[in-house]
Amino acid sequence: MAAVLILLTFLLPLGAGAEEIIGGYEVKPHSRPYMAFIKYVNDDGKNYRCGGFLVKDNFVLTAAHCMGSSMRVTLGAHNISIQEETQQIIPVAKAFPHPYYNFKDDSSDIMLLKLERRAKRTEAVRTLRLPRSNVHVKPGDVCYVAGWGMVSPSGKLPDTLQAVELTVQKDEECEFRFHRRYNKATAICVGDPKINRATFNGDSGGPLVCKNRAAGIVSLACKDGSAPGTYTRVSSFLSWIQKMIKHS
Ligand SMILES: *[C@@H]1O[C@H](CO)[C@@H](O)[C@H](O)[C@H]1NC(C)=O
Repeated sequence: MAAVLILLTFLLPLGAGAEEIIGGYEVKPHSRPYMAFIKYVNDDGKNYRCGGFLVKDNFVLTAAHCMGSSMRVTLGAHNISIQEETQQIIPVAKAFPHPYYNFKDDSSDIMLLKLERRAKRTEAVRTLRLPRSNVHVKPGDVCYVAGWGMVSPSGKLPDTLQAVELTVQKDEECEFRFHRRYNKATAICVGDPKINRATFNGDSGGPLVCKNRAAGIVSLACKDGSAPGTYTRVSSFLSWIQKMIKHS
């Protein structure tokens, strides 16, 4: 029991105002036109940020732990501290966290946001494709993640979009580190523990892009900002995503 409690104090869900990209670089503006910047208010009344990505003109996919009130999505952004002409700011009409999402272990950490209106497709705003149901990422695959999350565990938040290249790890790496909070059927273990690169507070909900498709969603990180972290396995939720988009 004591061991479990100690472990939990070292973990934090990335959306809880804590994730940011560590060891990454500022991207070329609008080179990831599917990226969504999500702002919301938590139970504590404070503002938090998460990432997400456009999967349909009126739907953004993110992590379920990014749930809050007054949710608002900014598309087409690079520097979120200014009002860029490319930006489309759209309030969330309704949030659909996965029915199996469990905040105690962050399993099924996936949520669809229906936007109040359709995004206008531009050079800076485009959808990201979902993974094929029969293609799975493997340890050693090199993928990318982007976000406006913290760039160091001390908490500095960038105002421009950062990205980092990360390598998919064996499930055992995350089973060892996250214990029961890692389920290989619905999660992917990402980030080489020997390299100082990771997603962190504020990056939650952003896409892990492998071969130009959204293979994962940033979910859990370690509080010290070290790799690996856990990512929701999007291919395990394809039928739920398609059903929700069709019927809501
Ligand atoms: C983003 O915009 C703010 C406000 O104009 C500016 O102070 C800041 O330097 C910009 N950030 C970058 C990295 O260009």
